[in-house]
Amino acid sequence: MTAQDAGQVLAIYQHGLDTGHASFETTAPAWADFDAAKLDRYRYVAADPGAAPGTDVLGWIAASPVSDRCCYAGVVEHSIYISPHARGRGVGARLLAAFIAATESGGIWTVQSGVFPENAPSLRLHAKAGFRTVGTRRHLGRLHGEWRDVVLLERRSPTVGM
Ligand SMILES: CC(C)(COP(=O)(O)OP(=O)(O)OC[C@H]1O[C@@H](n2cnc3c(N)ncnc32)[C@H](O)[C@@H]1OP(=O)(O)O)[C@@H](O)C(=O)NCCC(=O)NCCS
Repeated sequence: MTAQDAGQVLAIYQHGLDTGHASFETTAPAWADFDAAKLDRYRYVAADPGAAPGTDVLGWIAASPVSDRCCYAGVVEHSIYISPHARGRGVGARLLAAFIAATESGGIWTVQSGVFPENAPSLRLHAKAGFRTVGTRRHLGRLHGEWRDVVLLERRSPTVGM
């Protein structure tokens, strides 16, 4: 993911937010805020090689640190968003697999994410990639005035630090 992908990345982000099942956020941030929140090393797009530049991004994945405490230096939280026209074709699975390989080679030992229980595709995607359900956090926040539960998922690398 580079700054040249910003427009497509944020548009795909907004499409995901518009489902009402992706995040408590409702509006994609400005690129500067997105850029500042995500780790440089762990941000990727899936691109269609047959599409023209500027229209080729199928989806993205990016990570943020969970804490600035050094004991959590190998723990990140990720987000993954696939363009509506590219969903259900395995793009998310391939992007997540590439992300996991990159984080493991970079020494990240735990990747975590919060997912709404209504988000069946995301739960399925993550279960297949080796994430386990830590638990369901009840009425963690409100979206459009409605309290929502959040399933906390994590994938502990079987190799990093073991
Ligand atoms: C969730 C999301 C990232 C999944 O990406 P994707 O590219 O569509 O997923 P894949 O095609 O790789 O499919 C992954 C698995 O989910 C399953 N899946 C896909 N759509 C599904 C649906 N509507 N219901 C149930 N399972 C579904 C697939 O069948 C596949 O499992 P399988 O291999 O056993 O068949 C994508 O749908 C998306 O961007 N959604 C909107 C944003 C969002 O919710 N992001 C996640 C926030 S936590």
